[in-house]
Amino acid sequence: MSQTVQIVLPPKYIEKRIVNVKVSPMGYFLSSDEQRALLGLIKKGVKKAFLNEKLVEVTSSIQDIDKDDLTLVPDVSYEVPGELKSMVPSNIPTFFDFKNLWQKSLFALQVIGQAVLIGEKGVGKNHLCLAMAKEFSLPVYDVSGSRNLTEYDLVGHYEMRGNETVWVSGLLPIWCKHGGLLILDELSLARSSVLARIHSVFDFRRYLIIKEHQNERVDRHPHAFAIITLNPPKGEYLGTQHLNIAFLDRFQMIEVPESSFEEKKKIIKMRSDLNDEIFAESLIEIAEKINNEYKQGNLRDFVSLRNLIDCCNLIANGLSKKDAVEISILNRFTDEEEKTRVEEICSILIE
Ligand SMILES: Nc1ncnc2c1ncn2[C@@H]1O[C@H](COP(=O)(O)OP(=O)(O)OP(=O)(O)O)[C@@H](O)[C@H]1O
Ligand SMILES: [Mg+2]
Repeated sequence: MSQTVQIVLPPKYIEKRIVNVKVSPMGYFLSSDEQRALLGLIKKGVKKAFLNEKLVEVTSSIQDIDKDDLTLVPDVSYEVPGELKSMVPSNIPTFFDFKNLWQKSLFALQVIGQAVLIGEKGVGKNHLCLAMAKEFSLPVYDVSGSRNLTEYDLVGHYEMRGNETVWVSGLLPIWCKHGGLLILDELSLARSSVLARIHSVFDFRRYLIIKEHQNERVDRHPHAFAIITLNPPKGEYLGTQHLNIAFLDRFQMIEVPESSFEEKKKIIKMRSDLNDEIFAESLIEIAEKINNEYKQGNLRDFVSLRNLIDCCNLIANGLSKKDAVEISILNRFTDEEEKTRVEEICSILIE
């Protein structure tokens, strides 16, 4: 049974149990009829079968099969080449999946191969990517979007080494050839000419042509998955306008919403060493007040879950509440008027 994911469904907070199912060939999962048939087979102790020409293998150990709380998710693991094993993440904290993002994302990866996770800062987009990579032992390739990102960073370039010119492969062909999880972080900052260059690998063609390197064609490995993380477009600055629409069209869009009060409480309890539930509750409350002001347009920044976890960990490690709140929350607001407003909201915490 999976240790990494905990599916906790509000309002009752029932922990759901995940059953990993490997389906070959890639590109397919199980229809609801097939899922029902598989559950019937599992009850009889069968762990490997053919269902409508798909080879289906249950890769989790299952107890209490009679309980009706099983969630089937694709097992996207594969035989990772030895030299890439060091790129598989380890020590990833438990990911709480309140919104069924685990199943949605894995379905998208298994069936389509790629998805966009769209959500405000600190909602757990990168954490989810790394939790999936860890769970299924996928090597991770990180690409950060910026105006300076060039196609040569992605596909490769020639370099002088002594008297010789050598070809240095970019991350993309390595990912394409050997598989794993490509995380394209904040790609809205990248120039569209760079993205247009890599269109072909994300549609039905599934290959990359490296024209700089003898027109080499690299076919996309069946286990070469990609996730883009994106902050939602806001106000006049529409992030996705910068992100080439044709590029985005090739991806499934999965929304990662903000956690509720109760969800934040659970995450903070698990993620910080602070043993002060009353303080944690007040902290979340004031963060929600600040974030409401942000939503109304009175503040230019908001307090993310990341800031709350950091604040609690600073206190748990000996910093005073006043200083911890100051450096993890207050100092985010540099405008005098905004700072005064946030100070007022925070005053109940640090009196
Ligand atoms: N569902 C969750 N379960 C456990 N921890 C979470 C969850 N959501 C967020 N966190 C924690 O909150 C912090 C922020 O998460 P993460 O860095 O993944 O956010 P992000 O969405 O990628 O933000 P940004 O847009 O700023 O890059 C991390 O410490 C992460 O572990
Ligand atoms: Mg992130």
